[in-house]
Amino acid sequence: MDKIIIKGGKRLTGTLPISGAKNAALTLLPCALLTEEPLTLRNLPRLADIDGFQHLLNQFGVSTTIAGSRPQDFGRVMTLQTPRLTNTTAPYELVRKMRASILVLGPLLGRAGEAKVSLPGGCAIGNRPIDLHLKALEAMGAEIELAAGYVRAAAPDGGLPGGDFAFPVVSVGATENALMAAVLANGTTRLDNAAREPEIVDLCNLLVAMGARIENIGESDLTIHGVPRLHGATYRVMADRIEAGSYACAAAITGGDVMLKGANPAEMRATTHALRNAGVNVEESDAGLRVYCDGPLRAVNLSTAPYPGFATDMQAQLMALLCQADGTSVLNETIFENRYMHVPELNRMGAHIETNGRTAVVHGVDRLTGAEVMATDLRASMSLVIAGLAAEGETVVHRLYHLDRGYERLEEKLALVGADIERVGSD
Ligand code: EPZ
Repeated sequence: MDKIIIKGGKRLTGTLPISGAKNAALTLLPCALLTEEPLTLRNLPRLADIDGFQHLLNQFGVSTTIAGSRPQDFGRVMTLQTPRLTNTTAPYELVRKMRASILVLGPLLGRAGEAKVSLPGGCAIGNRPIDLHLKALEAMGAEIELAAGYVRAAAPDGGLPGGDFAFPVVSVGATENALMAAVLANGTTRLDNAAREPEIVDLCNLLVAMGARIENIGESDLTIHGVPRLHGATYRVMADRIEAGSYACAAAITGGDVMLKGANPAEMRATTHALRNAGVNVEESDAGLRVYCDGPLRAVNLSTAPYPGFATDMQAQLMALLCQADGTSVLNETIFENRYMHVPELNRMGAHIETNGRTAVVHGVDRLTGAEVMATDLRASMSLVIAGLAAEGETVVHRLYHLDRGYERLEEKLALVGADIERVGSD
């Protein structure tokens, strides 16, 4: 297994390109199931999860072709086409490797009237149930059966009638599955307390480009009028706001000055607000986000929340930054039950963080020291990289497959702005 070696203490300066958003791409890709016409997605990030989803879609008879892009380019163009579904089952051996596979449930149901998908199971950060996905589809008229580790969904003859559903808890994935099932339903679906994340807006914008009829895009009460069929489209995936926020923390912790090229400031207001409260300068422009830090970092108290609140996916990265702040920060993780696995590893680097349930108390320390550390999940591994960039000495991050799921060519991007970072194969 590869590992990354970082020699800390280098100020990051220059321009860092931001890739297409992983969490948008993973809900735009299954839209190829909703039409027999070609769907072309531009600005797709080169990530393990995208490759995994492509392989999953191939199982259903989706043809996927990657347009030529030079090795040095970031992002790819993929054209997907599903003239005919050859299969409506997502098998355990694929779903267990990538829980976002559950996002084929809604489109398969919408297109074919049936789907059999392995239950995704939990992951490192929590047990990640899918009850809201199933309740929303049932409210739209689907028959749902759970058996032998699979969920089987079927629409009545003639297709899903559509229906109303109020989410008791905001769920990004459940909102996405409901949207992709509703666009081809026979009637109208109203979703209340739907997720409002920019990735949901990206999905709605693509579906509308394919001919769907969706009202109130960007709000929590969505109305979808089903249409008989959808046509193909060409669509550019939104910029990755979490990748951009992660590199903003990296620039700040090194006292650097980095232009995050292609970031969309309008989608990062909660992150920008937290960074400014921490004493980081952030300048918004059409080109992206300039992040620079020339003074002491300040402690920040915050809770994670659904959009437009502070993203849970940014919690570990901000925590790494706050390890170097003057004073004590209190963070509250309200979305997932086990999202502090980066804490023991940060403490091994000299941080002083105490956790109690969903609360973490981060006591700022004068310096972090490099160490051998273990990545445990995607965003936790990024927080270790951020800490390593500021730590004295050498930090070695193991189990890079976590990072490769969500950060396109991380070591190349960080080297572009002056990091002393090297990826080496396992000995
Ligand atoms: C998406 O996961 C993202 N993944 C996650 O990003 C992100 O952390 C999360 O949304 C929250 O923003 C993708 O988009 C591929 P949820 P998702 O359904 O859809 C509970 C990353 O690091 N819940 O919004 O699975 C759930 O347990 C990843 O890029 C139910 O109870 O998240 C959690 O507490 C990690 N029942 C809360 O809702 C359900 O049926 C929010 O989960 C569904 C969810």
